Amino acid sequence: MANNLLSINDLSKKDILDLIEFSNNFIDDEGNFRKENLFPDKIVANVFCEPSTRTKSSFAIAANNLGCSVLDFDIENSSIQKGESIFETVDALNLMGVDLCVLRHPESVIRELAEYLPKMVFINAGEGSISHPTQALLDIKTIMDHKENLDGLNIVIVGDLDHSRVTSSFVEGVSNFDLGSLTFCGHPEMCTKYQNPKIGKYESQLESALENADVVMALRIQYERFEKELNLDLETYKSEYQLSSEKLESAKGDAIVMHPGPVNYIEITEAVYDSENSVIRQQVANGVAIRMAVLSRFLGS
Ligand code: NCD
Repeated sequence: MANNLLSINDLSKKDILDLIEFSNNFIDDEGNFRKENLFPDKIVANVFCEPSTRTKSSFAIAANNLGCSVLDFDIENSSIQKGESIFETVDALNLMGVDLCVLRHPESVIRELAEYLPKMVFINAGEGSISHPTQALLDIKTIMDHKENLDGLNIVIVGDLDHSRVTSSFVEGVSNFDLGSLTFCGHPEMCTKYQNPKIGKYESQLESALENADVVMALRIQYERFEKELNLDLETYKSEYQLSSEKLESAKGDAIVMHPGPVNYIEITEAVYDSENSVIRQQVANGVAIRMAVLSRFLGS
């Protein structure tokens, strides 16, 4: 395994399955996370240059559970506000003894940082709209908790796919498996990169996309990433692309519904979020276990 987790493509299928199996050890029979004092001499810095609730908190909790010291780096009150670059910032943390940097950044800087600071371990916690590897791992784990195996599954992803790093890493991750089908769906202007995908197919009608689906992933409209203002009639959007109980009827009865969060209830109704098919809250909990496994593997190597 590489020294850093920059992309899901850094992992083989075996690495992915091993990390998921390893993450299961960190959850006890009651569903609580085990606390293991494995790395009391390691310092993990959480450097988030974009907003985050689940990813940031789960990395902090995972690192605490493993006995690490956690530096919750406060970007808003840091010298980045005085014009310091991310390179100088992370170099300063490195000089102070930080062993591992969990980085979320709007731009693609993580690869260059990893080359610049080879002694530090880097874990990608969100790179612009490009990648989000630990989200893909927790998504695959959540599917395996319910379906055991990804082979043969019909998976549908619906929403603002062009801006979604969750989608790109998920697609890279699941391309290791022999899926039944992978269908991309959403407003054509939000799915320009997925009209002729390398794997899977695009379907503009949500009901057709959902036929026979085992797994449905909904994604929010990422307003903050649109370069020009969105000229969108929300009611029309909802009637076509919102995952509602009625539309979900086209999927298999035991289909699971996923969403990385945060949920805006434009892309999915509250009824579907709260339905028995929904595993959205389990994804959040799986985030801690997966990040405990990732931190252990990359701190240990
Ligand atoms: C996603 C993200 O930040 O990429 N959320 C997450 O990490 N759980 C998706 C989003 O912001 O919509």
